Amino acid sequence: MSLRLGDTAPNFRAKTSQGEIDFYDYLGDSWGILFSHPADYTPVCTTELGRTAALKEEFAKRHTKVLALSVDPVDQHLGWISDINETQHCSVDFPIIADDDRKVSELYGFIHPNASATATVRSLVIIAPDKTVKLIITYPASTGRNFVEVLRVLDSLQLTANFSVATPANWQQGENVIVALNVSTEDAVKKFPKGVEIVKPYLRYTPQPDKD
Ligand code: BEZ
Repeated sequence: MSLRLGDTAPNFRAKTSQGEIDFYDYLGDSWGILFSHPADYTPVCTTELGRTAALKEEFAKRHTKVLALSVDPVDQHLGWISDINETQHCSVDFPIIADDDRKVSELYGFIHPNASATATVRSLVIIAPDKTVKLIITYPASTGRNFVEVLRVLDSLQLTANFSVATPANWQQGENVIVALNVSTEDAVKKFPKGVEIVKPYLRYTPQPDKD
């Protein structure tokens, strides 16, 4: 299946390092991140899971639950988690799916046969509370993902969901944001009392609405 932005993220049941889960039950009303890893006991994956564990508080602040996936069985996951905790000085406390039958990988398109017939690529999907797919990124096995960038995208998505704004190139927390195209300038002035800078009729900036 080829998953696209705007699709409903498919539900599934899966074995994980923390027992069997139903994906939708696991997410509840939270935002969700589902991300795939080529294999257990591999170096780049080890650092990625360590970074994710270290950012626990940041994901919690954003009401986001994370769920990793690797195509190895639960017993291997458990041994690997202990290595990750030891080498990355962290505590992995989110589940890792044991997708040894590749059911979830096929459902989400995490196997790219021309890259590898069996291993998953490094994909990451952000899912909104209504289960809509909001972001899909895919990296090669040799490049570890940037989890600070993942947090930045979550911030941008959550601003868009709450305030009718978009975020410009390289935007960082606290910087001005862009008034959404579907808001007229007349409405923007009322909606954003901190001010609207009109550079062009289609390019209008306003201070980040949820910052003092
Ligand atoms: C890694 O996680 O280091 C890795 C996994 C599969 C292929 C290449 C690198």
